[in-house]
Amino acid sequence: MTDRYILAVESSCDETSVAVLKNDNQLLSNIIASQVDSHKRFGGVVPEVASRHHVEVITTCFEDALQEAKISADDLDAVAVTYGPGLVGALLVGIAAAKAFAWAHSIPLIPVNHMAGHLMAARQEKELEYPLMALLVSGGHTELVYVSEPGHYHIVGETRDDAVGEAYDKVGRVMCLTYPAGREIDQLAHKGEDTYNFPRAMIKDDHLEFSFSGLKSAFINLHHNAEQKGEDLVLEDLCASFQAAVLDILMAKTKKALAQYPVKMLVVAGGVAANQGLRERLAQEITEIPVIIPPLRLCGDNAGMIALAAAIEYDLGHFAKLDLNAKPSLAFTYNN
Ligand code: KG4
Ligand code: ZN
Repeated sequence: MTDRYILAVESSCDETSVAVLKNDNQLLSNIIASQVDSHKRFGGVVPEVASRHHVEVITTCFEDALQEAKISADDLDAVAVTYGPGLVGALLVGIAAAKAFAWAHSIPLIPVNHMAGHLMAARQEKELEYPLMALLVSGGHTELVYVSEPGHYHIVGETRDDAVGEAYDKVGRVMCLTYPAGREIDQLAHKGEDTYNFPRAMIKDDHLEFSFSGLKSAFINLHHNAEQKGEDLVLEDLCASFQAAVLDILMAKTKKALAQYPVKMLVVAGGVAANQGLRERLAQEITEIPVIIPPLRLCGDNAGMIALAAAIEYDLGHFAKLDLNAKPSLAFTYNN
């Protein structure tokens, strides 16, 4: 059997990334150009700034990915690209580049859902067994996804308001931490105690929906009131209390999902899957089935994960025409 090579492109938010995958799961390269420094001073991603950065670096990312993989464009069998969800201008840069590349080299184009990419990054850790449940936690999404078989994704629960990563970044801003704040809050949380007692929304309800806006508001109010009264807050305890509330909610809903859907594995993926506190709780509390978390380098946005999801789409024969457009609100199908 001849080898198969897929080149994948990711540009849905503030990372421009191009990767090359050999056969089913050998990542030969995964070039990531992060723009995070350009967005830090704004405390979040500025869409127009993101699009411009993607345009500037995407060609170099293509060249570097091929060079590091030690293959030429003629060796490629397909080009995959994230077409949603994400920022429309940012997505369009990757899509335009991928389409031009597919056309120039007469190879098929594979459309990939960004969240499927996060989930399939777990394939680098272990071979996945189906059906599986996935907890996807990123800056833009918080969802429980039932994967009945490869390439078949069904949302069984999601956030009604803020995503968990977004909540981390917003409370981080209130504490004057650098964007994105998730990692630093996680580190500070490990040095503190849960003393502030934040709310855990809908934790007792049987449904699989999340809500983080109440927690975020409670945090902001506490901070604001303390500031006005000139009271000192213990930063480490504040972070520990916030993180304890987040993790209690994520763990409770994940356990409910596992009770409602018999599955062979739990995958936890997305930027927030880098959270050490979450990893510890999962290891302690989910013991009945294997918990698969992608390696740290594949938790944040990268094209390697898009390539890993694209390999499944390739096998299923899911290709796009050259009129593929960005779908900023692209979602998995809803099960309920
Ligand atoms: O998946 P991702 O790289 O981008 C999106 O698709 O959104 O996720 C980025 C998010 C940010 O909100 C960041 O603060 C959060 O992941 N994050 C973390 C940690 N590392 C990154 N949140 C909590 N704990 C961490 N260790
Ligand atoms: Zn992401």
